[in-house]
Amino acid sequence: MDQTSQPGAAAAHQALEDLKADIEGAVLDTADAIDAYRIRYLSRKQGQITALMKRIPEVAPEDRKAFGQAINAAKQTVEERLEAATAALAGSAATSAAPADLTLPGRLQPEGSLHPITQAQRLITRVFENYGFDVAEGPEIEDDWHNFSALNFPPDHPARDMQDTFFIEDAEQDHGGILLRTHTSPVQIRVMEEVMKDGEPPIRVIVPGRVYRNEAISYKSYCLFHQVEGLYVDEGVTMADLKQILHAFARTLFGEDVRMRFRPSFFPFTEPSAEVDIWWKDENLPGGGRWMEILGCGMVDPNVLEGVGIDSEKYTGYAFGMGIERIAMLRFGIDDIRILYENDVRFLEQFS
Ligand code: PHE
Repeated sequence: MDQTSQPGAAAAHQALEDLKADIEGAVLDTADAIDAYRIRYLSRKQGQITALMKRIPEVAPEDRKAFGQAINAAKQTVEERLEAATAALAGSAATSAAPADLTLPGRLQPEGSLHPITQAQRLITRVFENYGFDVAEGPEIEDDWHNFSALNFPPDHPARDMQDTFFIEDAEQDHGGILLRTHTSPVQIRVMEEVMKDGEPPIRVIVPGRVYRNEAISYKSYCLFHQVEGLYVDEGVTMADLKQILHAFARTLFGEDVRMRFRPSFFPFTEPSAEVDIWWKDENLPGGGRWMEILGCGMVDPNVLEGVGIDSEKYTGYAFGMGIERIAMLRFGIDDIRILYENDVRFLEQFS
C-alpha cells in the first residue's frame, strides 16, 4: 500500500500532535487531577495512548516505526509527569501543615495513685524505719509450725479452728498443715530462725504483709487484710520500751495530742500481752468520741525465744501487730472496709 491509500494518515499524525500537547499542558495540582490524567492516558481499555496505538495501521508503513516511538515517548512523558506531580503533592501536604509549636507545654500523662492501703502501709513502715527497724517479709502460704506451733499456740487452740483459718492441706500429723497465714507473726519466727543460724540478737524488724481469715464479711472485716508486725529482741528490752515506741508511732500518725491506752489482753506468743486503743474524736457520739483498738502487742513469750534457740535468760523482746486497714480507715475517714477491695476508680481517685 502506498501513502495515498492511507486516508487517515494525516489525521493520525494530527492526533499524535494533539495528544503530545495535551500531555505536556495538563495541570496536575490535585490528587483528582492526577488520577484523571492517569486514567485518560494510561488506562488499557479507554486510554488515549492505547487508542493511538491502534491507529498505527493508518500511518504510512515507512513512518510507522517513528510514529510508534513517538507514542512511546508520549507515554513516558505521562509517567514522568505523574511521578513528579504525585511527589510534589505529597511534599506540599507535608509542608502545608502548620509547623509544630515547640513552645507549647507537653501533654500531661494521666497519673495513677497508690491504693490507700499501700499509702498507709508505707507510712507505717517509714515511721519504724526511722527508729532503726529493718523491713522483712515472709510467705503468705505458711505451715502450721510458723503460723501456730512456734508461736506457742497449744495444739487444740481455737484459733487453729477451721472457722478462722483457710487450710490448704489439713494434715493429721504434727506441724503438717499448710495454710494461708492468719497474721504476720510467723515472720517473727522466720526472722529469728534466720538470725540464729549464724548470729545473735539484736533483732529489730518491721514486717508488712497480707493475711487471711475465714471470717464473715462485714463493714469491719474481710477475708483478707494487711498487717504490720514489729519485733525487737535484745538484752534488757522492757515493756516500757514497747509503750514508748508505740506512743511515738501514734503521735506521728494521729497527732501530738493523741490519747492512747494499753489494755491487758492475751496472745499465746506474748506475756504479758496488751491491746492498744486510741481515742477517736467524734462529736456525734455521746462522750465526744470512742476508743478504737489499733493493735495487739506484748513481751515475746520466753517459750517462743527458746523455740528458735534464743537464750531467754539473756534476751527479752517485744512484738506488736497492727491491722493496716483499720489505720487507713481511721486516717482517711473510711467507714466500710469492703470499699477498699472493690477497686472503684471513683473511690481510689480521692487518694491521689
Ligand atoms: N498477731 C496478732 C494478731 O494478729 C497481733 C500481735 C502481734 C499480738 C504481735 C502481739 C504481738 O492478732
